[in-house]
Amino acid sequence: MTAARAIPALLAALALPSCDWMPGKPTLADKWQAPSEITSFTELYNSNCLGCHADGRSIAGSNTLKDPLYLSLLAPEKLREIIAAGINGHSMPAFAKENGGQLTDQQIDILVAGIMEWRDPSKLPAAPIPPYSAPLGDVAAGNAAFAQYCASCHGADGNGGEKAGSVVNPYYLDLVSDQYLRTIAIAGRPELGCPDFAHRVPGRPMSPQEVSDVTAWLVSRRVNEFGQPPQTIPNQP
Ligand code: HEC
Ligand code: HEC
Repeated sequence: MTAARAIPALLAALALPSCDWMPGKPTLADKWQAPSEITSFTELYNSNCLGCHADGRSIAGSNTLKDPLYLSLLAPEKLREIIAAGINGHSMPAFAKENGGQLTDQQIDILVAGIMEWRDPSKLPAAPIPPYSAPLGDVAAGNAAFAQYCASCHGADGNGGEKAGSVVNPYYLDLVSDQYLRTIAIAGRPELGCPDFAHRVPGRPMSPQEVSDVTAWLVSRRVNEFGQPPQTIPNQP
C-alpha cells in the first residue's frame, strides 16, 4: 500500500468511533423499547419467568418449565390462564394488565407459544402419564405409595434423608398449592434430581391412582401449630 492511499484509510478509521456527533445516529432514547413493545420470547421469558422457574439449581425455585413431561401435562389454555391470573394465594404472580401485571395479551400469547415449543413427544416416558389435575386420592394408600416411591430419598416419614430434604415441613407445605404438589408427584424436579413418576423405582412407574394417593398424603401433612389442618386455599380447577 502506498502512503498516499494509506492516509485516507487511516482517516476513515479514526473517524469511526467519533461519529456520535454526526446527525442521524439513533440516540439511546430511540433504541429504548417500552416494556409493552417487547415481542422477543427469550427476552420476555428471561425477564419475567426465569428468575423463579430456573433451569438449574435455584434456592427460591419453582419447577423448571423447560421439561417436556411437565409441558405434556399442561394444555396451552391452562398455561395461558396461569400466566394471566397467577396462582391465588401463592407466590406465582398474575401477569396480565387487567390483573395488575405488566404484560399485554399479545405478550402472554408469545410466552405460551414459546414455552410450548419446548414440548418434545420423543422425550416422554412410555408409561401412561397421569392427568395434570385430579381429585385427591386416599391418604392411607398414599402413605404406602410414599414408602415405596419416595422414602428412599425423602426419608421414611418424609422428614428428609441422605439424598433429599423434607417434603413435610409445615412451612413448605403452606407455601405450595395442592396442584403444585401433584405436579411434582408427576413430573418431579428433573433439574434438581427428583425423578418423575416413571423413574422412581426401576421398571415400576407410578399409576395415576398412586400419584393421586401420594398427593393426598402430602396434603394431609399440612398441619398448623395445633396439629390441625389449616384453612387451605382451594385447588385450581
Ligand atoms: C416470583 C416468582 C415467580 C415468577 C416471577 C413466576 N412464577 Fe410461576 N410459579 C411460581 C410459584 C411459587 C409457583 C407454584 C405455585 C403453587 O404453589 O401452585 C408457580 C407456578 C407456575 C405454574 C404452574 C405449576 C404447576 O403446578 O403446574 C406455571 C405454568 C408457571 N408458574 C409459569 C410461569 C411463567 C410462564 C412465568 C413468567 C411469565 C412465571 N411462572 C413467573 C413462582 C413464580
Ligand atoms: C432419587 C431421589 C428422589 C426420589 C425417589 C424422590 N425425590 Fe423428591 N426430590 C428429590 C430431590 C433431590 C429434590 C430437590 C430438593 C432436595 O434436595 O430436597 C426433591 C424435591 C421434591 C419436592 C420439592 C419440590 C419443590 O419444587 O418444592 C417434592 C414435593 C418432592 N420431591 C416429592 C417427591 C415425591 C412425592 C416422591 C415420590 C412419589 C419423590 N419426591 C421421590 C429426590 C427424590
